[in-house]
This record gives sequence, C-alpha cells and structure tokens, in this order.
Amino acid sequence: MTQGKFEIGMVGLGVMGRNMLLNIAEHGFSATGYDKDPEKVAQLHNEIGDLPVTGTEDVTDFVALLKKPRVVMMLVPAGPTVDSVIHDLLPHLDKGDLIIDAGNSHFTDTDLRAKTLQEKGLHFFGMGVSGGEEGARHGPSMMPGGPKQAYGMVKNVLEACAAQVDGEPCVTYLGPSSAGHYVKMVHNGIEYGIMQLLAETYDLLHHGLNLNDDELGTLFDKWNQTELKGYLVEISADIFRKVDVESGRHLIDLVLDSAHQKGTGMWTSQDALALQVPTPNIDVAVEMRNLTKLTDERTAVSERFGAYQDTFKGDPDQLIEQIRWGLYAAIIMTYAQGMELLRSASEEYKYDLDLSEVARIWRGGCILRSALLEPIREAYTKQPGMLNLLLDNTLGLSISDHIADLRAVAQTGIGLGIPVPGFTAALTYFDSLRAKRLPANLIQAQRDYFGAHTYERVDKQGIFHTQWGKE
Ligand code: 6PG
Repeated sequence: MTQGKFEIGMVGLGVMGRNMLLNIAEHGFSATGYDKDPEKVAQLHNEIGDLPVTGTEDVTDFVALLKKPRVVMMLVPAGPTVDSVIHDLLPHLDKGDLIIDAGNSHFTDTDLRAKTLQEKGLHFFGMGVSGGEEGARHGPSMMPGGPKQAYGMVKNVLEACAAQVDGEPCVTYLGPSSAGHYVKMVHNGIEYGIMQLLAETYDLLHHGLNLNDDELGTLFDKWNQTELKGYLVEISADIFRKVDVESGRHLIDLVLDSAHQKGTGMWTSQDALALQVPTPNIDVAVEMRNLTKLTDERTAVSERFGAYQDTFKGDPDQLIEQIRWGLYAAIIMTYAQGMELLRSASEEYKYDLDLSEVARIWRGGCILRSALLEPIREAYTKQPGMLNLLLDNTLGLSISDHIADLRAVAQTGIGLGIPVPGFTAALTYFDSLRAKRLPANLIQAQRDYFGAHTYERVDKQGIFHTQWGKE
C-alpha cells in the first residue's frame, strides 16, 4: 500500500462519489475512494483505467493512504449517514485535516457539525454540488462554505474539476459555516420554481393549444436559442421527443403525474418563512408537488366535479409568444425571490455572500445554468447591495416590456381552467411590490381591534392603539 501519497479522499462510491473522484483524478490529482460496500469499490476499480486512483473498503487503510493534512470529501446521503461517516473517520484523523460534506445537507446540520469539528481542531466544509451524475463526472457547479483559512487546501482541486464558463471555474469560496449549503438549498428552491413554471407552460401549450409532443420538442428547442436558453428548457425538449421503445408512444405521456421531492425546495420555503422573506414561486412549486401526490383526492374530486376546461379561442401564435415572454418574466421574478432570500440570509447568518459570485458560479455545471445568469451576475456586480433584482436597469426593462405578456398568460390559464399558480404567483409578487398602498392597513387595524397589537400611522410617528368598537 502506498502510504500517505494521495491528495484527496472520497467517502461514498455511489455514482455521484465515483464520478466526482474520477473527475478529480482526470485533472491530475491522485485520489482514493472508500465505501463499506465492496461492490462499489469494485465498480470504481473497473472504471479507473490509467488514472491515479485507488479504492478500499477499510477506513483505516483509506485514511492511511492520504497525504497530510488530509482532505476527505464525502458524497453520501444527507442526514444520519453524514454523522455516522464522520464518527467512523474521526479516530483516524488529526488536527488540521479537512472534511468536506458534498451532499445536500440541511444548513443547520452543517452549522452543528462545523462547530463540533472545530472544537476538535478539524476543518469542515459544507459544499453544495449541482449538476447530477454528468456534472460530477465532467464539471459540476460547486458551492463551498466553511473556514476561509482552509479553502487553500482544496481550491486548486475544486477549480480544476468544476465546470468552466468563459475560462472561469464555476466554484468559489462563498462564506463561513453553512454558507455553501445554504446557497445550494436556494439554488434548488429556484430550481423547483422554474420547473413548476415549465410544467405550467407545458400544460398551457399541450392542453390549451393542443400542441403534440413533437411540436413541443421543436418549440422548446427553438426557445433554447433565445433569452430562455438554459439546461431545464434544453432537457424538456429532449423529454418531449423521447419515444418509449416498448409501447411506441411518447414516454412523457406514460409518466405518472405525481411529483416527488427530497426536501431541499421545502427547506428553502421553510427558511424563507422563518426569515419573513416572500418566495411565492418556490412555495407554490413545493405545494403543487404535494398536490400532485394526492392521487385519491384528485380522482374523487375530478369524478365529482368533472375537469373544467375551456377551449382557447384567440390567435395561437400570439399566445405562444406571450407564453415565451411571460415565462421569461416569471423566471426573473423567481430569481428575484431567491436572491432576496440569499441577501437576507447573508445578513442574518453572517455569510457575507457576494451575489454576483453566486450568479457567476451558477452559469455552468448546475441545473440552473442558463443565459439569464449572465445579466443577473452583471446586475449584482454593478450594484452589490441592490434591494431587489427587479431594480436592475436591464432586467427591469425586460419586466416592463413583458409584464403584459405575463398578465395575459395568467388570465388565459385561469380562463381555460388550467392551473397556473406559478405564473400568478410571479405576477402577484410584482403587482404587490409595485403597488403604492397594499391593504395591510386593514390587517393591522383588525389586529389592533381584537388583540391591542397596536399600529403605525402614515401621518405621524409613533405606535398607536384605538378602541375601535367604541364611540
Ligand atoms: C442538482 C439537483 C440535485 C437533485 C435535487 C432533486 O443541483 O444537481 O438539484 O441536488 O437532483 O436535489 O431534488 P428533488 O428530489 O427534491 O426534486
């Protein structure tokens, strides 16, 4: 056994861990993998070819193979497995070694682990990795957070194996403690929001305008050459065209309409609620996934009331253009909400996030990668402390030009009986932010009426209470 020669170790040799390990090694860094499951170690050995890689199912051997100070990355399921891996590693590690949790851990777990390990003299990074199996193998977007002084131990490896856009790696040091996992969580929240908008778009085009799967594939391909260019639009085109070999039918029509989730979108909404930051597009995306799973209720209500569906009587080409631009505007609103959450969380949790850098590292490798991330990056480079993305001149102009399209799409969906909660959430977010006066004065008055919760006034300073029911 080669003692202490390997530059990086990987715990968890499932597809993600294996692919990441091979990606690292392909960029010239020697790497060793560890998994308790001998089959996974064997699978790694089958794939390494000439790469400077080895694998073991023995934790003692694994740690002994690593150069000091050691760098150990974990790609294991979030939750108790992360703690059990850390527990197994700890007796073999020394002060100054670095552990990186590259799974989708909840940010509060990351904070706890960072604190415990810091007390033992170890460095701990929580790192979001996006891009799925392909990304891990050929260049993901990576979102590391942890002690800044330890970033130098992995900077070169991460920059080499990350996706590259315009010669820049899609990775950067994001901030202390759980900053990296928080940014990844919000990445996923935005991902949920955009996927919901794309699903509604599909519904409008398919059920509202009777476009068939091939036509949808062609349209999404065309859209992928426009401002909407992005990974989620691109894969949707492929999905619409895919034919099931067994039945000869388009596979999309055979997929059960019940959406699952691992929880990162829900976590985003939960923390947004706790921080009192409105993220309606993310919330509605989570809620709609939950609703799709109510298969029994859906069947019963559908049988009881029948499906409501009107036929579209206007110009289909005009509606398709309105949907394209309405979708673009709604995606901008979704980013505005996600970035707002990051700005508030950065203040609350002292992450000191650079939102321009966040947008920059999302331009490649990750699920959100899209043309829109470049103007978003530019917006935060110009005005780092911007209150809301909608205040950027370039993006604000797009919104002014296309808010009428978003309104038309929401109205059409509602008129046809096609659920469009993502489009309406985006429109409501904008209409509420732009309103000079919202009806919250009534809510405040009611709170004061029944609970003496007090209220403020527009005409003078101070806190007021009124006996509303009395003369
Ligand atoms: C990514 C993805 C990845 C994963 C999602 C799926 O960035 O590579 O977001 O993290 O595919 O967690 O999430 P759901 O199962 O919750 O849809």
